[in-house]
Amino acid sequence: MNDFSAAKAIYIGSDHAGFALKEVLVAALREEGKNVVDMGPMNAERTDYPDYARTVCAKVLESGDPGILICGTGIGMSIAANRRHGIRAAVCTHEFHARAAREHNNANILCIGERVTAPGLAVELARIFLSASFTGGRHEARVAKIEII
Ligand code: RB5
Repeated sequence: MNDFSAAKAIYIGSDHAGFALKEVLVAALREEGKNVVDMGPMNAERTDYPDYARTVCAKVLESGDPGILICGTGIGMSIAANRRHGIRAAVCTHEFHARAAREHNNANILCIGERVTAPGLAVELARIFLSASFTGGRHEARVAKIEII
């Protein structure tokens, strides 16, 4: 599948440092009619990002649907998520990142840092990421090589 047009859900999770931005994204994407499954946390109490990376990755791998992970920087979430085979998690801070992550890397999880990304930009990054398509072609073999590392 080269795009998420048939996705049934978007799985989203954060840690405490990404909680406020998660709430913004959940509300904005639901407002646009998306079925957003909030994998937690449900409050801003201190928590550990790998726990939420793990649960969102499991859902993304099981369903083929996209995920969004938010922590303070986006980095911890991406490092944790990319431990799973089949997960291609990209930290994005710019619209071009979000588009290229899909078109070139066939990323299936968008990672955002609440401490470095304004809420309006974060919503735009999610919109771009969810609507852009993997272009395949020369990128197909490169992505396949990632999977055999
Ligand atoms: C939490 O303080 C912070 O370290 C975490 O949210 C994340 O940025 C780690 O990469």
